[in-house]
Amino acid sequence: MKGIVLAGGVATRLYPVTLAVSKQLLPVYDKPMIFYPLSTLMLAGIREILVITTPRDAGLFKILLGDGSRLGIAIEYAEQQSPEGIAQAFIIGKDFVGSDACALILGDNIFFGPNLGGQLRGASENKDGATIFCCRVADPARYGVVEFDGGDVPLRVIEKPKQPVSEWAVTGLYFYDCDVAEIAAGLKPSGRGELEITDVNNAYIENGTLKAERLSRGTAWYDAGTHEALLQASQYVHSVETRQGMKVACLEEIAFRMGFIDTGQLERLIDEQTTAANREYLRRVLDEPEGSPGS
Ligand code: TTP
Repeated sequence: MKGIVLAGGVATRLYPVTLAVSKQLLPVYDKPMIFYPLSTLMLAGIREILVITTPRDAGLFKILLGDGSRLGIAIEYAEQQSPEGIAQAFIIGKDFVGSDACALILGDNIFFGPNLGGQLRGASENKDGATIFCCRVADPARYGVVEFDGGDVPLRVIEKPKQPVSEWAVTGLYFYDCDVAEIAAGLKPSGRGELEITDVNNAYIENGTLKAERLSRGTAWYDAGTHEALLQASQYVHSVETRQGMKVACLEEIAFRMGFIDTGQLERLIDEQTTAANREYLRRVLDEPEGSPGS
């Protein structure tokens, strides 16, 4: 399975902070925002990743992430000329995806919680159909919302419903089988001129092949698109890291625990660290290889 991080957008809600720099390069506590969605794909076991950025910001992402080889993954880049919808990721990424299954995560989505890694790996092993992840929210009218049949079967996804049909918001993490490129290619722009990911999800519902997994109560989900949410996400990561002494979205740790890099490679990454605290943390990871990968 391949993975796409969609990290374009204009981020008008974060102006003036994002007037000159991508939202996904801003810090969420101690690391750039894009590390979090990247870590989520890595935890799903995905090693071939396309990062889609704006033309303006592409160079900075390449400086930050390179080709991914130091983490035992392969990162490629593509540009979205203007934000014409989330589903456009599969049109821009057509050659990258080829005839493979592909996961998509939005560059401003942060997930952290118990057993999340297992849940993600389960979704990546499902080769037939699609899996989306839903989170219970207090304000469903702001999101795409899943209407269920009374059990676990999704009936439809409704974008920003005036009368909420459930409290289950669709998060920015989607796993699709190899039909996704064709489904995306057949989409028409919506009333707001975007290729809507909700239309892709509803196409899978019509085929009877969409699973909508509910994130457990203990799982944190942030879409860090407003000043308030960005601050809350930073505070959350700070609080987990200082209370537990475990890092959220430490890419070197995840690469090692997932078996993408070996002991020798992690030792070289430890030598690269510029702070004693980071060296010490990764040394502990090396000495306790059985630990959880952070989610
Ligand atoms: P949004 O938050 O909907 O858009 P934005 O980031 O431009 O912010 P704002 O609403 O404040 O102007 O996008 C959610 C995520 O998806 C974000 O990480 C950017 C990404 N995105 C794209 O890269 N391209 C797109 O065409 C869209 C719609 C979103």
